[in-house]
Amino acid sequence: MATEPYSSKHPIGVFDSGIGGLSILRALRLELPHENFVYVADSGHAPYGERDDSHVIARARTITAYLQAKHHIKALVMACNTATAAAIHLLRQAHPELPIIGVEPALKPAVAQSQTRRIGVMATRGTLGSVKFRSLVESLAGQADFICQPCDGLADAIEHQDAIKTIALCQHYTRAMGAFGTQSGQIDTLVLGCTHYPFARDHLIQQLGPDVRLIDNGEPVARQTRRVLPQLASGETLGQCLLLTTGEAAFVKQAAQHWLGLECRVDSLID
Ligand code: DGL
Repeated sequence: MATEPYSSKHPIGVFDSGIGGLSILRALRLELPHENFVYVADSGHAPYGERDDSHVIARARTITAYLQAKHHIKALVMACNTATAAAIHLLRQAHPELPIIGVEPALKPAVAQSQTRRIGVMATRGTLGSVKFRSLVESLAGQADFICQPCDGLADAIEHQDAIKTIALCQHYTRAMGAFGTQSGQIDTLVLGCTHYPFARDHLIQQLGPDVRLIDNGEPVARQTRRVLPQLASGETLGQCLLLTTGEAAFVKQAAQHWLGLECRVDSLID
């Protein structure tokens, strides 16, 4: 059977272990307002960041195959640092025809902005332990000191919208990284290296003060997606979003309303 050619109307697939990738979807919708999106929150198999690579790779493969077969996506955004680190090279090998955009901790923009040259990086254990992250740090050797903090449990607390636990964990992990501020020897720039963490931004600003720069990569990823899309959707009407989850639909619906002002259907996905 011949495969239907991609057209501008086909959706862009986006996935994460849960609601974190909504921070990327928010930037994608601003950059590409006419595109249709299908978002998978794999909450039933989260967290990715504290599991083996083999689990994350298997989930990335299953979700990509599903999005291609059922939604005929024209591009895929891996809105998850952990999944990108573990699986993007494998997905690109397996789907050479599909543009695949990944997310990695925004170390280069942080180096460009930091004055003290001490940069904090909050991310999952999986991301920080990956070969991809190690070679990113090596490529910037001598340009800054990176204080890397694995944040077990933080994505999960944000996923479950548990504000008390989120605040406590942010405090615990930022204290463990040392002094923040704009004086020499202090960390003046903090990279949010997990797509869940931008949803804790307000808590982090309260704890660290307004002078510390917080950097995430929603906007660069959205711009990169625009660059690699084979065809852009156009027209008067705004694109549609379909949200799918392997976990609790109500959680995803509430997060999309709260963080994106997005009122849309959330369907359960049986994997
Ligand atoms: N949001 C994901 C990331 O960017 C990970 C969260 C998890 O551990 O599942 O790495």
